[in-house]
Amino acid sequence: MKKLTIKEILKEGENLAGKEVDVKGWVRTRRGNKNVQFVALNDGSTINNLQIVFDLEKFPEESLKNITTGSSIHVKGNLVASQGAGQSVEVQADKLEIYGTAPADYPLQKKGHTMEFLREKAHLRPRTNTFGAVMRIRHALAYAIHKFFNDKGFFYFHTPLITASDCEGAGAQFQVTTLPLNELPKNEDGSIDYSKDFFGKMASLTVSGQLEGELGATALGLIYTFGPTFRAENSNTPRHLSEFWMIEPEMAFYEIEDNMDLAEEFIKYCINYALEHCYDDIKFLNDHFDHDLIDRLKFVVNNDFVRLPYTEGIKILEESGKKFEFPVHWGVDLASEHERYLVEEHFKKPVILTDYPKEIKAFYMKLNDDGKTVRAMDVLFPKIGEIIGGSQREENYEKLIGRIEEMGLEGMEWYLDTRKYGTVPHSGFGLGFERLVQFVTGMQNIRDVIPFPRYPKACEY
Ligand code: 4AD
Ligand code: MG
Repeated sequence: MKKLTIKEILKEGENLAGKEVDVKGWVRTRRGNKNVQFVALNDGSTINNLQIVFDLEKFPEESLKNITTGSSIHVKGNLVASQGAGQSVEVQADKLEIYGTAPADYPLQKKGHTMEFLREKAHLRPRTNTFGAVMRIRHALAYAIHKFFNDKGFFYFHTPLITASDCEGAGAQFQVTTLPLNELPKNEDGSIDYSKDFFGKMASLTVSGQLEGELGATALGLIYTFGPTFRAENSNTPRHLSEFWMIEPEMAFYEIEDNMDLAEEFIKYCINYALEHCYDDIKFLNDHFDHDLIDRLKFVVNNDFVRLPYTEGIKILEESGKKFEFPVHWGVDLASEHERYLVEEHFKKPVILTDYPKEIKAFYMKLNDDGKTVRAMDVLFPKIGEIIGGSQREENYEKLIGRIEEMGLEGMEWYLDTRKYGTVPHSGFGLGFERLVQFVTGMQNIRDVIPFPRYPKACEY
């Protein structure tokens, strides 16, 4: 007998009626009466359960008592058209094997646990409908991302996770060391002697693969990275993780306009892919948590993003008459409340904000002719705020050295070589993968769109 997942069985539906099927999964519920018992079985392949019918003449009640919520079973039986509402087919059980029962202290007994409760049971929460849906959507988005770039001729370029440079210059890195922390080797001036450390210098987990990505793009033309990044900022918000995945395309010969076009096309492609391939899961989340979810996703894919310079964005915020928690004026870094005002209240559309003051952006961004702003582009989304951050890169060797010296960065000779030898205009951006998953699933908290979230004071499993 061919092995079929519950997803495949339900898809075939009545085409399989009369055939024997062999199914394995976890029990969601068991209910019924003295004559017949119904088990809702889920194997993770889909949000939908397969109904298994146990005739009590064949299966005495005693033999079913260990089929509790959370237990794992193997059933063989005939697939038949269902008489009940809610499913088109069901399995008339013939043979039953119980792999493992789940005692009454199984934590996921009831429906409607809070997200906070489930976060404390993160080792079991993938078995809930909600997290199953989120994880399947996460997978589909990861696949869509690789497909999008592969189909466009981009190369997947692997950048290191352990690095000796600080791409964003924000000083939010986790240090990597094998030095004995209670007995640090010291230099004569009392500073730590990193020559004794594993790499012979200070090293950290990467905050971004961009700088190495630029080395790839200035050789292969079009590349993207897709890997974990780490930030040690003490941000306890529903949009920050200490370990998150980032997708960073980097393109030789792209100006900022090309960069914006690509970002918009890319993100719409991903959302469309999820709508097309994960509709059942998205519908479940729409119906149970966030009734505007599907409308919001369709709205984003069907509308052009607004493109607006930072200076004009600030004007709109100043003239809005709104009392923001953080006051706005030209030069401030935008907070989530400002970004969301522009997107959700003023334009009611995603916004790409460009040309930020150079002081609030990283050293590598291309300086505009005004000498004050850089060719940055942040894509701002409803509910999320910043989902993409990117820019055209400074390709001028002298100007880039100037910025590096201004900011006191060291050890960047390898990076500067891309500008010294055959420099080209180039651009790129970073999409926060969990922020994308958050947008597509409508989940309120980013901690609930990654299987095992890392955030301050949380490093379980
Ligand atoms: O804006 P960021 O810091 O940009 C960079 O790292 C650039 N090197 C990207 C590039 O040009 N290649 O981060 C990019 C995106 C943000 O827009 C956000 O979506 C996400 O990464 N992000 C986070 N996601 C979750 N938790 C955090 N702590 C995040 N910090 C940034
Ligand atoms: Mg940013």
